[in-house]
Amino acid sequence: MGMTVVGVDNNMRRDLFGPAGDTTPTLQRLLADCRCFRHVDIDIRDRSRVAALMQNERFDLVVHAAAQPSHDLAARRPADDFDINAVGTFNLLEACRVHAPEIVFCHLSTNKVYGDGVNQLGLIERTCRYDFAEPRYANGIDESFPIDRCLHSPFGASKCAADLMVQEYGRYFGLKTGVFRGGCLTGPDHAGVELHGFLNHLVRSIARTNSYTIIGYRGKQVRD
Ligand SMILES: NC(=O)c1ccc[n+]([C@@H]2O[C@H](COP(=O)([O-])OP(=O)(O)OC[C@H]3O[C@@H](n4cnc5c(N)ncnc54)[C@H](O)[C@@H]3O)[C@@H](O)[C@H]2O)c1
Repeated sequence: MGMTVVGVDNNMRRDLFGPAGDTTPTLQRLLADCRCFRHVDIDIRDRSRVAALMQNERFDLVVHAAAQPSHDLAARRPADDFDINAVGTFNLLEACRVHAPEIVFCHLSTNKVYGDGVNQLGLIERTCRYDFAEPRYANGIDESFPIDRCLHSPFGASKCAADLMVQEYGRYFGLKTGVFRGGCLTGPDHAGVELHGFLNHLVRSIARTNSYTIIGYRGKQVRD
């Protein structure tokens, strides 16, 4: 589309998930295929480098998709999880507020902000999957669903913190922020591993004839 894209990624996914999480092949392909793509190796936990990036470049749009994305990993490394998800998001927001307040800031949040509150909803067991019993949830759960009074896991809590801060930079400071609470985001370039990116991991497991472990709910799909 002719846009210049600067990809900020420090390959933390490899640190978190081992060699299977390595994002280098995708980066190399992007650098080879996309004329308008540049890569910057910055850790979003590094507040001064994030600020310098926003000061030295002129961006129209930030799509913030950098994260520690796994529940299980967060329980093992809660400090890294909080620093990446909550503090990293804050660093990006603050750099935008100071150096680029006109910017549009899209944040990849997660449906995990709803914690286990959704587990209290009634389910109907179908042949291959479970559906929500209440018709109003037939098309999924929207943002009116409460995020309080439930168990989130450290990951859910760090993502909640980021989600709320992005909303707050919009409402309080007037930045053009948007929060997207996705679920099951994937694609052929996802470095899927057992702990995270299950759709990509599932397809890879089938293609490579590895085994795939189905956890809970008698092997039936529950999520949308
Ligand atoms: N994949 C899903 O099913 C799903 C579902 C809901 C929400 N999300 C959210 O979408 C976003 C993207 O998820 P994903 O599945 O692409 O995750 P991913 O782990 O594949 O991608 C995250 C990227 O961020 C980079 N990163 C991590 N820490 C960093 C740091 N400190 N500095 C710079 N880069 C860093 C990683 O190297 C990786 O390339 C996340 O915010 C995640 O919570 C994903």
